[in-house]
Amino acid sequence: MVALKKNTLTKLATAVLAVAASVNVYAATTLKLSHNQDRSHPVHKSMQHMAELVKDYTDGEVKIRIYPNAQLGTQRESLELLQNGALDMAKSNASELESFEPAYGAFNIPYLFQDRDHYYRAMNGEAGQQILSASYDKGFIGLTYYDAGARSFYTSKPINSPADLQGLKIRIQPSPTAVRMIELMGAAPTPLAYGELYTAMQQGVVDGAENNETALTTARHGEVAKFFSLDEHTMIPDVLVIGSKVWDKLPEEHQAALKKAADESMMYHKDLWTKMTEESIQEAKDKMGVEFVEVAKQPFMDAVKPMHEEALKVPAISKYVEIINNQAKI
Ligand code: GCU
Repeated sequence: MVALKKNTLTKLATAVLAVAASVNVYAATTLKLSHNQDRSHPVHKSMQHMAELVKDYTDGEVKIRIYPNAQLGTQRESLELLQNGALDMAKSNASELESFEPAYGAFNIPYLFQDRDHYYRAMNGEAGQQILSASYDKGFIGLTYYDAGARSFYTSKPINSPADLQGLKIRIQPSPTAVRMIELMGAAPTPLAYGELYTAMQQGVVDGAENNETALTTARHGEVAKFFSLDEHTMIPDVLVIGSKVWDKLPEEHQAALKKAADESMMYHKDLWTKMTEESIQEAKDKMGVEFVEVAKQPFMDAVKPMHEEALKVPAISKYVEIINNQAKI
């Protein structure tokens, strides 16, 4: 009797284990994705769209759980977690990524892109695609780019020319290219994490910052900086990245689904970006009293001109800069 029971139990346990194992094969993979923007930011919405597409394309086998507002750490911390295998995906930007993978520095050169079309040709072309895979050995690869508009200065006074920047402390991201740019324009570069910037501006730790218009509303920077001067010095893409090991572990069909969803969300984001940037500008003007200042760009361009020649001498970025320059309209 006892023997029979044991036997039955063993059989049952084996069956349970077998079911568990088979379930495991098809169990959903949930990828954790960290970023530092608010839920109201267009890039959050575009990544939600991407997550829905991935779920759809994989019949629910790959899910993405998005953690906004730097809940899992600053952009830098997220990249470090990703490299250690404690996080699967992150949305960062080329400025932040430059210190992890120098190739991203190519995108951070001021006045590199003529306009938005040139920017898209670069992202979708050889340079953009090669840079996405350049960082494999650093523990992550890029999946796609998200439009983040053009970056301009915002402070408590209009910045009509580089002369108005003299002596100001301007917050930047931790990027060597940003440091060089701000120095050439005559201001003092102050690296800070994005989440610390509101308070730093409010308390006068820095005199101003530079970013696209959505920062005024989604990060409420328009409450503490009332002049947005449209010098549009850089067009720095946001970048969606995934850990190299996480990527390698995904079956090929899941990799393909993820890449397809990421690419599609890039183009979904393009329209959303246009629409939501216009809404941000309106909200910043009407509800926050922010003034948008049109400026002559030439003096800003002249100040950073040396960076174009310098870039062609840096091996990590020169070939990409050449490709991008050749994609300009003649
Ligand atoms: C942009 C970008 C963020 C980045 C921020 C910054 O908003 O989308 O990824 O953190 O600039 O200036 O830090």
